Amino acid sequence: MARRSSKFEFPTLPAVAWQPGLPVHGAATWVIVVGEGGLPAAAKDAGERLGVDLGRLLEVQQATGFSPTAGATAAYPLLTGEVTEILLVGAGDGSGKDLRHAGAAIARIGRGKDELTTVVAEGIDDARLQALAEGVVLGSFTYTLKTVDPGKPVVGRVTLTDGSEAERQAVLDRGVVIGRTGWLARQFATTPSNEKDPAWLAVRATELAASTGLEVRVWDEKQLAADGFGGILAVGKGSARPPRFIRLDYVPDGATKDTPYVVLVGKGITYDTGGLSLKPREGMVSMKRDMTGGGSVIATLAALRELGAPVKVTGLICSAENMPSGTAYRPDDVIRHYGGRTTEVKNTDAEGRLVLADGLAYAVKELKPDVIVDIATLTGAIKVSLGSMLYGGLFATDDALADNLADAGRVAGEQLWRMPLPAEYEELIATPIADSVNSSKGPGSITAALFLKAFAGDIPWAHLDLSSIAESPADRLEYSLGATGAGARLLTTWLTTPTPTSGVG
Ligand code: BES
Ligand code: MN
Ligand code: ZN
Repeated sequence: MARRSSKFEFPTLPAVAWQPGLPVHGAATWVIVVGEGGLPAAAKDAGERLGVDLGRLLEVQQATGFSPTAGATAAYPLLTGEVTEILLVGAGDGSGKDLRHAGAAIARIGRGKDELTTVVAEGIDDARLQALAEGVVLGSFTYTLKTVDPGKPVVGRVTLTDGSEAERQAVLDRGVVIGRTGWLARQFATTPSNEKDPAWLAVRATELAASTGLEVRVWDEKQLAADGFGGILAVGKGSARPPRFIRLDYVPDGATKDTPYVVLVGKGITYDTGGLSLKPREGMVSMKRDMTGGGSVIATLAALRELGAPVKVTGLICSAENMPSGTAYRPDDVIRHYGGRTTEVKNTDAEGRLVLADGLAYAVKELKPDVIVDIATLTGAIKVSLGSMLYGGLFATDDALADNLADAGRVAGEQLWRMPLPAEYEELIATPIADSVNSSKGPGSITAALFLKAFAGDIPWAHLDLSSIAESPADRLEYSLGATGAGARLLTTWLTTPTPTSGVG
């Protein structure tokens, strides 16, 4: 039997194309996007083209249970002519969120088809049209190693039209790139850990750097030791697959010394068993996703040049596999991080903060950026605080930075909720043995954030704890069952606003 190659394949995305006017020859399937306000204006012309009264069709469908809530679908077969099927897809209130959902529904029903002609409301604004394109890409996501019935391929092409002569391809292109960042982050996080380890992640980053115009540097375990990355080394020590620190640099065309500079630091734990503080079976399942933050940083960096981000950005991915073994780090060990700060380990399962601490310290000492943002599936406790698939946790030492990130989260459909960083709880992570301790009683997400804060120095800093939005329980909205690749869309959206660091400092 032929062995499946484990070579990583970058995704083949659906083409999302704008069509001025109504197409003369459309696809065999036409989709009519229906909002709460009814049919798109072009539905009249489209209906004439198809020989169907679409107003009447909508009435009949509504009488038999269709309502235009976001993502709802109804199919109507045509028995003559080149078009064989009309699909009504609900767009709800027409918000970005609902149109992203509608886009995902279009992608799901388009699976296996070459092309869909899709009629949307005239004058839909850029943000919403972009969200629809994002949904088409994200709803197309597949990852399977099934050898039997692997499922239908991604829709080849979704052609959008509002019947007008407007030219709006650029808006769709941006939506496809943002959707692609989400797809890539999701693909990284979904890849099983027998395939991915820190070196694998470094190869993915290196390939993407070459194809998207970034500088890349990778530290192997020897270089990590030489430079004193004690946190990453300690967490990686128990694994036969050594840790890596990955640096990606994006410099916009025409950058000067006054161009704002942002550093992103991502948690790249390619598997989290808990280490010697071993997780129980139930808690360990899904920990292949513990590199979601690092994967999102890689996916984000890979989009910046194409989208013309106006700021300099460095992505730092702190990657290790957290395993128990005879060479593993222990509870009671004291670690010396990059730059010298010390941590007493009380729980080897609180490993994320140990690797991120090295990345933050490196950023402060070597890069001196205007802003640092770290991103991680850092704590289970954030899921207790914020529940599932509604909000990611946001911590920040700067109000403008918090607002800019929260705004980007709303636009991108990855909402954040700001959490406090009270100095009163700092005593919870104090120890006589070292500068701090890595685990403690009390509010777990806040103490984790306070631990990291000490490594960010005086630089405006935000911390995204996204465990609460890293895993979808089902194929719903623009998500598929499993890893969401949380954070990539929000970071890409934020860094491609006109002034990501406005008001900061
Ligand atoms: N990777 C986990 C956090 C996590 C848990 C993410 C569930 C997604 C789903 C992290 O490394 C961890 O184990 N955190 C511990 C910290 C504790 C030992 C202080 C936790 O949250 O239980
Ligand atoms: Mn852990
Ligand atoms: Zn972890």
